[in-house]
Amino acid sequence: MALDSALALIESVRDYSALFVGDKIVDEYHYVVSMGKSPKEHLIPMLYLDKEIFHGGTEAAANHARTFCAKVDLCISPTEVRKVRFVDRNYNRKLAEVHYMGREGVNSYIEGEYDCFVVTDFGHGQIKDYLIERLIKKPFLAVNAQTNSSNIGFNLITKYPRADYIVIDAPEARLAAADREGHIEDVIIKLAHGRCDKFVVTLGIEGAIGYEGGNFFRAKAFTDRVVDTMGAGDAFFAVTAPMAKTGNMEDLLMIGNAAGAIKTQIVGHRESVTKEKLIAYLNSH
Ligand SMILES: Nc1ncnc2c1ncn2[C@@H]1O[C@H](COP(=O)(O)OP(=O)(O)OP(=O)(O)O)[C@@H](O)[C@H]1O
Ligand SMILES: [Mg+2]
Repeated sequence: MALDSALALIESVRDYSALFVGDKIVDEYHYVVSMGKSPKEHLIPMLYLDKEIFHGGTEAAANHARTFCAKVDLCISPTEVRKVRFVDRNYNRKLAEVHYMGREGVNSYIEGEYDCFVVTDFGHGQIKDYLIERLIKKPFLAVNAQTNSSNIGFNLITKYPRADYIVIDAPEARLAAADREGHIEDVIIKLAHGRCDKFVVTLGIEGAIGYEGGNFFRAKAFTDRVVDTMGAGDAFFAVTAPMAKTGNMEDLLMIGNAAGAIKTQIVGHRESVTKEKLIAYLNSH
């Protein structure tokens, strides 16, 4: 049964060690209420109420993996990017975002050996080419290269000449393949061939599509109450990356979609996906 196979895969990584490599990001939610239009300027003034500060980026991704693997370590830059979102308190909607880039930091060299090396590349310049050179020699490398407003077109998955498992979203895949309208399958083939045997493109509310061994697999999202979609792709990736070493694509999509669904119900990074929550979620859907 599909569920039994997915549950066995979750259990199979319990003794794994994983190194998460990537950017240090602090996500701040500043809660506001709109005060109505300014009579003097073409802008909407907001009244500040309070704020929440979260470890985001690679730290948040690693936190999703902690209860699944015995050892989860971090390789992140000492300096951080701060991302402040102004969030409407009444509707829990993000109104504006300001990035504070900080001094450019560089990831340290990776030390030690792990069962899997998991790269969450948020494209803030912290992962240098020499680090990629080292990472692609690792026996099991999983990569997610993010596109966001500060790096559009400059942080494509094509930076990584090889990987064993890749998860990116559809706009990221289309940008990397320079294909805006073609079939997503053709986009995946273009990116995966010669680069990666297990390739997933996440499709937000529509779930995800995976490619393995020349075959495509589609899995619907577990539609649910969505509170905050920030980091749903990171949760999908972080939880499935260690499992991708042995898991088949159908199991990875089921587990990834469940991890994404759980994350969409969490505001910011107040909580992480856990093994307990994931198993309960799968058993009840
Ligand atoms: N609105 C939604 N409803 C249901 N599931 C969702 C929704 N948005 C995301 N998900 C789940 O989370 C997974 C990842 O989402 P998505 O494709 O939006 O990733 P992303 O763009 O990389 O997100 P981020 O970069 O913010 O982490 C999807 O494959 C799906 O399973
Ligand atoms: Mg993403």
